[in-house]
Amino acid sequence: MGYKAKFRIWRGEGGEGKLEDFVVEVNEGEVVLDVIHRLQATQTPDLAVRWNCKAGKCGSCSMEINGRPRLGCMTRMSTFEEDETITVTPMRTFPVIKDLVTDVSFNYQKAREIPSFTPPQGVEPGEYRMQQIDVERSQEFRKCIECFMCNNVCHVIRDHEENKAAFAGPRFLMRIAELDMHPYDVADRKQSAQEEHGLGYCNITKCCTEVCPEHIKITDNALIPMKERVVDRKYDPLVWLGNKIFKR
Ligand code: SF4
Ligand code: F3S
Ligand code: FES
Repeated sequence: MGYKAKFRIWRGEGGEGKLEDFVVEVNEGEVVLDVIHRLQATQTPDLAVRWNCKAGKCGSCSMEINGRPRLGCMTRMSTFEEDETITVTPMRTFPVIKDLVTDVSFNYQKAREIPSFTPPQGVEPGEYRMQQIDVERSQEFRKCIECFMCNNVCHVIRDHEENKAAFAGPRFLMRIAELDMHPYDVADRKQSAQEEHGLGYCNITKCCTEVCPEHIKITDNALIPMKERVVDRKYDPLVWLGNKIFKR
């Protein structure tokens, strides 16, 4: 059965804006993005929202629904009370372009700063031989749809604009962990994770893991293991001896 829902949506651009109230029809089985599309069709044709697949796979429709980062296309209206006011705002960590659309180029910048997969010299594609366990370990990380909700929610940059230059965010620290766990990657990911990508800023609050729509255990399976790898290397007696000898 259909009903009328109360929506409060952030609207604005150029650094200015406000929440606007709407009453809009909802039909059975709909998600928040359906309702936003109905608003566009019936009341606010210029309401900006980014979306693409409507299947939870493109990562475009990230927004904050009642203060929590969610995919609009995967948030069922049935999870709310019919008389509840549903507040929809853009992701807070990134600059707003218009209404619900944010400029997520911070994330692409961080992606570019990570050197790509670096195999050893002399090993050609097709010659890599990996244990199944190594394949499986990174499989989880490769489910990422780059919705950037983990980076959006992490307090290191959500509340501290000044940390953005030094912190790659959970999505890209996970990418570094994925590469470091690859048996054929020879780049030194450990030192750069710490010194260039801000691994030390992460204090394991796990908010990133909580919001991931792909249910990737970002903190437990990528960030904590990466921290352990960094520490292991620091206290590795051979590395310690090498540093002593060569850094005199
Ligand atoms: Fe989104 Fe999860 Fe990927 Fe982060 S790790 S960008 S929350 S899919
Ligand atoms: Fe941030 Fe996730 Fe670490 S939310 S502090 S990156 S555990
Ligand atoms: Fe693609 Fe929502 S529209 S994830």
